[in-house]
Amino acid sequence: MSEPSQILEVLKKYNQEHLLNFWSELNEDQKQSLQNQLNSIDFAKVDKLYKSLKTISIPQGEIVEPLDYFIKNEFSAKERRNLENQGTAMLKSGQYAVVTMAGGQGTRLGHKGPKGTFELNLFPKKESLFEILANKIKKANKRYNIEIPWYIMTSETNNGDTISFFESKNYFGYDKEKIKFFIQNKLPLVDTNGKILLSETYQVYEASNGNGNLFESLKENNMISDMKNRGIKWVFISGIDNILVKIADPIFLALTINNATEIGAKTIFKKDPYSRDWVFCKKNSKPAMLGYERITDEITNANIDGRFLYREINILCHLFSIDALEKISNIDLPYHRATKKNTYINEEGMKIVPEAPNSYKFETFIFDAFRFFDKITLLRVQEEKEFAPIKDPVGIYSPDAATKLYLKEEFNSLLTN
Ligand code: UTP
Repeated sequence: MSEPSQILEVLKKYNQEHLLNFWSELNEDQKQSLQNQLNSIDFAKVDKLYKSLKTISIPQGEIVEPLDYFIKNEFSAKERRNLENQGTAMLKSGQYAVVTMAGGQGTRLGHKGPKGTFELNLFPKKESLFEILANKIKKANKRYNIEIPWYIMTSETNNGDTISFFESKNYFGYDKEKIKFFIQNKLPLVDTNGKILLSETYQVYEASNGNGNLFESLKENNMISDMKNRGIKWVFISGIDNILVKIADPIFLALTINNATEIGAKTIFKKDPYSRDWVFCKKNSKPAMLGYERITDEITNANIDGRFLYREINILCHLFSIDALEKISNIDLPYHRATKKNTYINEEGMKIVPEAPNSYKFETFIFDAFRFFDKITLLRVQEEKEFAPIKDPVGIYSPDAATKLYLKEEFNSLLTN
């Protein structure tokens, strides 16, 4: 097979002709596969994203205001009971679904295979992140006498391994018919000079394009219509890696409904004012997030009678009504640029494992959907009870730290149940 001249023209136009550097060394199958992949890539889009996201732009004249929030701990016993009763009735009606986003690369953790297959040592047993979530949903099913449909977003890279893992574990005893996997979209990774990376001499390095792609992927894979067919009214969305996530929280559900909102988000308090965490706010009257580069001392310390105005951190626990999901699935969310550490093939054809972040990934984020709504219900929860994500091999978001919090919570729930 000769060098594909049409593709070469496109590559030249966008300064990416290095992607064919190894063409003469490839076998016919590899040539075919590379050609197919190159034909499927939107080079104009990658070029535009690289150029437009080089710098952070702050919109002129944007009005930033605080966004109101509830604090779970502050409800009286009576308020709690009322919310619990109401949320429980909603859950029992069987109109609730769970979406787990498991399409990320998990580059920081560095686990081989899908992040959900990572096992924690829960003394004496070992459980994968997928199993921990499955057990939580099974528990909710039992408590509310329902069978929650479970939608799992994967990436092209990890979909096969994810499904094989579920099969090998017999779907953790979950009704197979109630679990739906769907694959999110992807985009090429580029180096800091905008050159697209190769993951093999015959393969362009493509990766999932951010958790904000959830909405579009749900629609493209007919998951929204599947939800509608099942009579789903509310959808809970979270990541794969927070092992303290409350998968069916009647208080959160009732509050979001009572507050006449179509979307809800759980938050935790930003204890360290100088951390790089983004915080909730309103931008031009709509719910949004404020990037750390825009958080001044004045903003971070702003409070009314000790109640801080800009300290609510997003923990990726969301409620969306089915109408809200559908609405966003028809809107293009903006891209952001994330810096990641990715192994690649260099000009000599050698595999390079970088020591430091070396590449840009273009991602859309769920939080950019918030501004398409007038209101959002924010519920601040206790970090030690509801947020233990596994991101890094060591540190506060490590498996060890999360396991400690998880075991403590398990013990507490044994005492209260
Ligand atoms: P993170 O942004 O923390 O990314 O994802 P990650 O893939 O887990 O880890 P790093 O940054 O590469 O180290 C938060 C959640 O969103 C999901 C992840 O699987 C995780 O559950 N996610 C992220 C997706 O489903 N798709 C994406 O494109 C990105």
